[in-house]
Amino acid sequence: MRNSSPQPRRSTKARRTVSIIATGSCVPERVVTNKDLEKIVDTSDEWIQTRTGIRERRIAAAHEATSDLATKAALAAMKQGGVAPEEIDLIIVATVTPDMFFPATSCFVQKNLGAVRAACFDVSAACSGFLYATEIAQQFISTHVYNTVLVIGADKLTSIVNWSDRNTCVLFGDGAGAAILRNRANSHGVIATHMGADGEFCNILMMPAGGSRNPITAENIGLQLNTIKMQGKETYKQAVKVMSGAADRVLETVGLKYADIACVIPHQANMRIIEAIAHRMGLPMEKFYVNLERYGNTSAAAVAIALDEAHRQGRFKIGDYILLVAFGGGLTWASTVIQW
Ligand code: ACO
Repeated sequence: MRNSSPQPRRSTKARRTVSIIATGSCVPERVVTNKDLEKIVDTSDEWIQTRTGIRERRIAAAHEATSDLATKAALAAMKQGGVAPEEIDLIIVATVTPDMFFPATSCFVQKNLGAVRAACFDVSAACSGFLYATEIAQQFISTHVYNTVLVIGADKLTSIVNWSDRNTCVLFGDGAGAAILRNRANSHGVIATHMGADGEFCNILMMPAGGSRNPITAENIGLQLNTIKMQGKETYKQAVKVMSGAADRVLETVGLKYADIACVIPHQANMRIIEAIAHRMGLPMEKFYVNLERYGNTSAAAVAIALDEAHRQGRFKIGDYILLVAFGGGLTWASTVIQW
């Protein structure tokens, strides 16, 4: 049997600290500016920038799938952390644009990396997916089930965008971000995570067709039901509410104040949403890492890419508290406090 590692057993030992030991990211080469979009829908650079803060986004090539972006992000993280493929016990890919319904995108990544010992599965929590997956990894490592877990947030959202719908097509881009989590003795790490969901709002952001409810048929494709449908205003309202609520909740759990946080890595959907949550938190924008002007909303990849960039730019140092917070279709939301 190729996966020859012994199946891990739950341990009765005390929970252990879980650190992010390395990060990596990947965005496709092709840049599409707001001006480029002016040529395909009735929009303007001025409208997009003032309503969202987005200037340009990256769009994957036709042959490039989510697992290809995910693999590149993973390789960058593995290089940074000096982690060999055989050391990885588990790969979790958070995505809503898997390569295929099945097998899981994480299995394609495993094959690309040669991570032959790793168990693999995907997580579907839209833009909150990377934080959901990070918490799953944290649970597995802190309870001694696994030692090294590769978590990836990756989406090729432009593959499900309706390019004739100006309400949505200007918002999204493609990319992937990765983090490697491991127990590191006498070290800091993930302190707490709060995750939540409210299925009452599942209709405000969805891709209605392609699944078992509305399978792929010529009629459904004709109606463009295999693309993103979004109620923008309601999504905006909920985003501000649930992200600030999730952030309040996790800080309360760990007994920290906003003033204790050195850097906030929020989901990168809209600059106005980030400004609104900054206002509610009473924090200056300088504490927020923002890259949405370059990438748009990359869904599950957004927090992961931002974390990697902020890390490599030295936006926080060892011992600093950082806050990661996201919301996405579902609705789902999650917030994580890490002492770096
Ligand atoms: N260019 C020009 N005009 C546009 C565009 C566009 N790209 N898109 C919409 N408009 C028009 C609308 O048609 C509307 O025109 P009308 O008044 O004649 O009907 C007008 O602009 C104003 O539209 P609003 O909806 O009032 O614009 P708003 O200020 O709410 O901004 C936006 C829209 C940017 C979508 C905002 O609501 C938003 O950011 N919502 C949250 C979106 C989001 O975060 N989605 C991702 C969730 S994460 C995930 O899970 C993938």
